[in-house]
Amino acid sequence: MCETKMIRLGVLASGSGTNLQAIIDSSQAGKIPARVAVVLSDKADAFALKRAEKHGVPHFFVDPKKFDSREDYDEELIRILKEHQADLVILAGFMRLMSSLFVQTFRNRVMNIHPALLPSFPGTHGVRDALDYGVKVSGVTVHFADEGLDTGPIILQEAVLVLEDDTEETLHNRIHQAEYRIYPEAVRLFAEGKLKIEGRRVRILGD
Ligand code: GRF
Repeated sequence: MCETKMIRLGVLASGSGTNLQAIIDSSQAGKIPARVAVVLSDKADAFALKRAEKHGVPHFFVDPKKFDSREDYDEELIRILKEHQADLVILAGFMRLMSSLFVQTFRNRVMNIHPALLPSFPGTHGVRDALDYGVKVSGVTVHFADEGLDTGPIILQEAVLVLEDDTEETLHNRIHQAEYRIYPEAVRLFAEGKLKIEGRRVRILGD
């Protein structure tokens, strides 16, 4: 039996936060049984923080410069996430690699989105790397985060065709549209208890 309850999301974002916005919109439209409980950023000027503010979501800039190590920094993130009772952590353009302390604390409860079809083109320039390589199909991957860089078990993927005259920007724009579909969908599946991790495979139970 799948159990559905309203889960609380902790979202980590370093930039514009359009994926955060897609999740807030899905939540407010009642399309996912989840709501954003807190937004954290490592960048003081991240527009994601402004989006959180606009929607009355608690939000914090946690300054990496104030911490001696990645573990110390992640401990502060963990503290705030726990304080806000986050059931699931959503990495939405958060440009830092999580420590194993963080991953272990929220084992199988951290999702990431990557703008390429993993395991191809991991890292910070997934869109550009795929384009430079000359692939005809790229896309989006939502996966559980583990200690590696974009290596955790894959939850959902959506393919995006590369067009003849694509630039990094035009391709990323279409990839974003796919992201706004599959990130909320992955959250919904998690919230409804429909994701079962078996080794590297994430089984999606009867939907
Ligand atoms: C997205 O393309 C995501 O795949 C990548 O970072 C970007 C974040 O965009 N990890 P936004 O801040 O959600 O607009």
